[in-house]
Amino acid sequence: MDAARSVSTEDTRVTIREINNSGPFSTLADDVRKGFSRSPKQLPPKYFYDDRGSRLFERICSAPEYYPTRTENALLEQKSASIIAHVKPSSILELGSGSSRKTTHLLNACDQQQCYSKYLPFDVCGDIMVSAGKHLTCRYDWLEVEAHVGDYCRDLPALPGDDGPRLVAFLGGTIGNFGEDEALAFLRGIHAIMRDEDRLLIGADRAKDTEVLHAAYNDAQGYTAAFNLNILEVINRELGAQFNLDLFEHHAFFNEPASRIEMHLRSKSDQMVYIRDLDMHVSFKRGETVLTEISRKFAPGALTHVLDQAGFVIERHFEPGNNYYSLILARPKSGTAARYQASPDRLAV
Ligand SMILES: C[S@@+](CC[C@H](N)C(=O)[O-])C[C@H]1O[C@@H](n2cnc3c(N)ncnc32)[C@H](O)[C@@H]1O
Repeated sequence: MDAARSVSTEDTRVTIREINNSGPFSTLADDVRKGFSRSPKQLPPKYFYDDRGSRLFERICSAPEYYPTRTENALLEQKSASIIAHVKPSSILELGSGSSRKTTHLLNACDQQQCYSKYLPFDVCGDIMVSAGKHLTCRYDWLEVEAHVGDYCRDLPALPGDDGPRLVAFLGGTIGNFGEDEALAFLRGIHAIMRDEDRLLIGADRAKDTEVLHAAYNDAQGYTAAFNLNILEVINRELGAQFNLDLFEHHAFFNEPASRIEMHLRSKSDQMVYIRDLDMHVSFKRGETVLTEISRKFAPGALTHVLDQAGFVIERHFEPGNNYYSLILARPKSGTAARYQASPDRLAV
């Protein structure tokens, strides 16, 4: 049975399907109850991304301190033509697509090579995919956009297949939001929906100077702080909670031994917060933190290892001259496929 619901848009070339019919916040109550019952407290990062959170993330991407977007964008600008020529995708499935801004490099290459792929963005936030879809169909008169609202940790098996090669893109360094075991399980889940001729294009952030990392997650304009606090807005709205946002502050730092940025919300006072829909009181000590996101920074070996374990062979590995970022094209291992590790293709970006 197809558990998806299609929602029509004014643009006939943009369709949107809600997988599981339950909406992205259907698991919020359970996750909030569990997350606030743990010690230390923790929330899953997918709840940042309501419409406001997605727009705040766009602002973060434009901040001068936030190098990952600029770096990945430059790699895609330079390499999309060769990626599309190599894969010749009949569809591009993008997981966690957000505004799809960087995807235009792939679609430009499709346009130039008359490789008229269908575009399937997949995200928890439907609003951002609809506005991205409209923008893209204006830009490319051949493009059909089939957006999917769902959770990529749960809903990938419900996606439609394709007859031709599919390029599965997972950009933005979002793989870093998963812990080690979760990343492996997630990549295995992607592998399970891919066929031999499909390819995975994945962007991952690399370990670098603490100062550069710290600045990227503590931008001077305060976009990241507002984005972080937005998760409390979401909980207030969706679960009738009474968080006073003035009583929490953004706290992000590089945890060097774990090679990850940790983003927390820190309570400015001793306080008790009531969450109406859960009939739950949550107490916070002054200085206590809630972990809202991790962003792992990889060594190249760690990336190749996790991809290998998940059943992928790296075909191309693009990185900028400063080694800030990795953009990797990988294929599923077939039973007899020779394993080799491509050396990074260094670019002056
Ligand atoms: C770090 S942003 C990256 C956005 C975009 N790919 C980029 O490179 O700028 C992560 C994106 O993944 C989406 N996302 C986060 N968790 C998700 C989940 N569990 N399932 C589906 N989408 C998710 C968010 O809504 C957001 O658009």
